[in-house]
Amino acid sequence: MHAVKQFLWRFEVVRNLAHAIRGTRPTPNRQDLQAIEHFSLPGNTEFQKTAEDIERIEGMFSPFSMAAVDMMLAFQESLEAKGDMLEIGTYRGKSAALLGTHLRDGERLTLVDIEDYLDPAAISGFKGRTEFIHAPSSKLRSGMPNYGARRSTFRFIHIDASHGYEETFHELAMADELLANRGLIAMDDFTNLNYSQNIAAIFKYLHTTGTKLTMLLATDEKAYLCRKRDFGLFADLILKSGVAEMRSRGIDAVLARTCYGPDYKAFYLRTRNPGEESIFYGKEIYMNQIIGIG
Ligand SMILES: C[S@@+](CC[C@H](N)C(=O)[O-])C[C@H]1O[C@@H](n2cnc3c(N)ncnc32)[C@H](O)[C@@H]1O
Repeated sequence: MHAVKQFLWRFEVVRNLAHAIRGTRPTPNRQDLQAIEHFSLPGNTEFQKTAEDIERIEGMFSPFSMAAVDMMLAFQESLEAKGDMLEIGTYRGKSAALLGTHLRDGERLTLVDIEDYLDPAAISGFKGRTEFIHAPSSKLRSGMPNYGARRSTFRFIHIDASHGYEETFHELAMADELLANRGLIAMDDFTNLNYSQNIAAIFKYLHTTGTKLTMLLATDEKAYLCRKRDFGLFADLILKSGVAEMRSRGIDAVLARTCYGPDYKAFYLRTRNPGEESIFYGKEIYMNQIIGIG
């Protein structure tokens, strides 16, 4: 994170100067995009070691999603977000194992599953800071001790359970209640149309309930949501260092943003296709949207 901070700091210096001289709202420009394209980070050996360990656990957590979740947690930590973590749909504990490596002092991990499939080895490194709730998500409000007092206390919430329409809507409503300041919600199987109801429930929740949550980042596996007030902080990190962060975790990625409007400005992050040169999809056509000019 030190290299990223230094890199971002260079943008801030230039930006603050321009801001002071012109008094305009600072936005990246064409040169900034070039600098971002050339920005690289050393290989993240700590993550690679963690990923090797996690690969041994049975489950559904791809190398791309391991890298993306790890990156999003690192971004959140760089913004000094604090709080517990929650996972609904744990299975053997593969994704939980990664969440556990990010627990900091005083933080706890709550795992929820309708069945007890948990492999104790997956959580052995942080067992004392983990609670397992054996219940369907529909019973979580009564099944989680002190649910009321734990509102706004979870900084990262991973939803990877049944993907049913009603269930997903209800899980997202609880996540909305439980999410802490600068919190992130990861919704699994976002583009898996074997569960087409999942994406329907997510967008119904986002656009009909008056929630302050918004889409931050779409991937082919998970969607990442944040509060509207935190969008700019996370989006800045994704734009300026997302691809370099993914590369440092062994994933050659491309970032797209083809829409930048008041109701939708999420990024899309995916693996690079053969022959794609830029790290930005449609860089010339979508320059303004990538940069974030409304
Ligand atoms: C796809 S698996 C989770 C995979 C896991 N996150 C991993 O990293 O391997 C889905 C899990 O959700 C659980 N599940 C299904 N319906 C549920 C519900 N209504 N409430 C809580 N858990 C549920 C299943 O028992 C299963 O363990």
